[in-house]
Amino acid sequence: MSIAESNDIFALRAPLVPPSPPRAAEGMGPFGRMALMRRSVIGTWGQRAYEEDIVKGRFFGHASFILNAPDDIRHVLVDNYENYTRTAAGIRVLRPMLGEGLLLAEGRSWKHQRRTLAPAFTPRAVTTLVPHMMSAIEETLAELGHATGAVDLREVLQRMTLEIAGRTMFSYGMARHGRALRGFVIEYGQNLARPHVLDLLLPLGWPTPQDIARHFFRKRWTRFVAMLIAERRAAGKLDGAPPRDLFDLMVAARDPETGDAFSDAQLGDQVATMILAGHETTATALFWGLYLLALDPDTQARVAAEAKAADTGTLDIDRLKFTRAVIDETMRLYPPAFLIARAAAGPDRLGGENVVKNDVVLIAPWLLHRHEKLWEQPNAFLPERFLPGAPPPDRYAYLPFGVGARVCIGAHFALVEATLALAKLIGAFRVELMETSPVLPVGIVTTQPDHSPMFRIAQR
Ligand code: HEM
Repeated sequence: MSIAESNDIFALRAPLVPPSPPRAAEGMGPFGRMALMRRSVIGTWGQRAYEEDIVKGRFFGHASFILNAPDDIRHVLVDNYENYTRTAAGIRVLRPMLGEGLLLAEGRSWKHQRRTLAPAFTPRAVTTLVPHMMSAIEETLAELGHATGAVDLREVLQRMTLEIAGRTMFSYGMARHGRALRGFVIEYGQNLARPHVLDLLLPLGWPTPQDIARHFFRKRWTRFVAMLIAERRAAGKLDGAPPRDLFDLMVAARDPETGDAFSDAQLGDQVATMILAGHETTATALFWGLYLLALDPDTQARVAAEAKAADTGTLDIDRLKFTRAVIDETMRLYPPAFLIARAAAGPDRLGGENVVKNDVVLIAPWLLHRHEKLWEQPNAFLPERFLPGAPPPDRYAYLPFGVGARVCIGAHFALVEATLALAKLIGAFRVELMETSPVLPVGIVTTQPDHSPMFRIAQR
């Protein structure tokens, strides 16, 4: 009998319930919330947000709505998506790094970029990038083969996904520039990516003190990205050769309507967007996946057995169904993008409430994926719920990559990368935690662990 027929994946075994942060007290004032928010947005949500369809609040003069009902979410992200834009705070925080690239573009410019870039991310195009992914994964395995004692797997994964981003983008490794690039990301994340009160209060045209610091950061960052591009250009492209990386695909990309190519500045923003949106999120998914598997040795053994069976010289991704289910379940419990925020451009109605221009609408994969009405045993780690044959979750209840017109363009890329990497890592090594203290998620841009736990690894 299949899992779906037995209809009871929840009675199969006592599942792991990994640690999660405490829920906030209800009715907190804006300044208390702001203080918590600078530490972790996830910590600002109380129990109601995990139980109700819509939670209305006020935050510094605007109404805010947390949406948990699939119909309302479809309305905002699909049916009426043109009425919802990125929020001023989101733009402030991300623009210095991502510029006018795809993630932050709006309207006509966004449509042009999305159409132009889409061919570079189709499943067929991603297949051409798999050798780059595999070479970086194999090198990571070789490095880990020499590791003795405590290993900081989070740091290893961040380097590996950056290496994959570098190779898929430019065909060259990140040995020379990876450290500097990580330095930019860490410097930005530690301070400038955390919103201050003024970032939320002032309209976009009014620079906050943080914006001034962000401006100087951006100058250094764009110079660095331009240097990466110049190096790639110097390496050239073989005449008539098929595109070998994302850079070739982006240089060759033309707007299907106008035939325009990207300008140099646009190319820089696009490169920055793809490298940043892609590597930190995928490293985060892999980190939580390894953390969960270290806490759940039976599930880890099942992934290892599947990886061994699927590895016949090359790794057959179609045979990694359970590994993929582990990735899906990991991103349910720890969605790397924990929040999708929008500002209303004009009036609307949501869940029986009036929405006016500049109201903030929050769709939080973190909340949605642990919502009491939408999931059975919402806090338990049960990859079986994502196996073929199990009842699929509601289309709008599981959104690790968002949904609708602005759905993640790199979703397939990320799923291929994460599935292959997890299978390879767990196929090669038994992974254990060296400490018993809980690792708690912190929501600042992505869902980061509050500290990097040490792992012990042993060759299988
Ligand atoms: C596990 C890994 C990843 C996760 C969880 C993730 C998550 C997301 C989410 C939730 C969105 C939608 C945001 C919104 O609607 O406001 C998004 C958009 C985006 N992602 Fe990803 N992403 C991942 C990997 C990647 C990769 C590998 C790339 C590129 C190589 C990428 C590039 C982008 C871009 C450019 C957008 C903006 C799309 C648009 O607005 O049209 N992401 N991602």
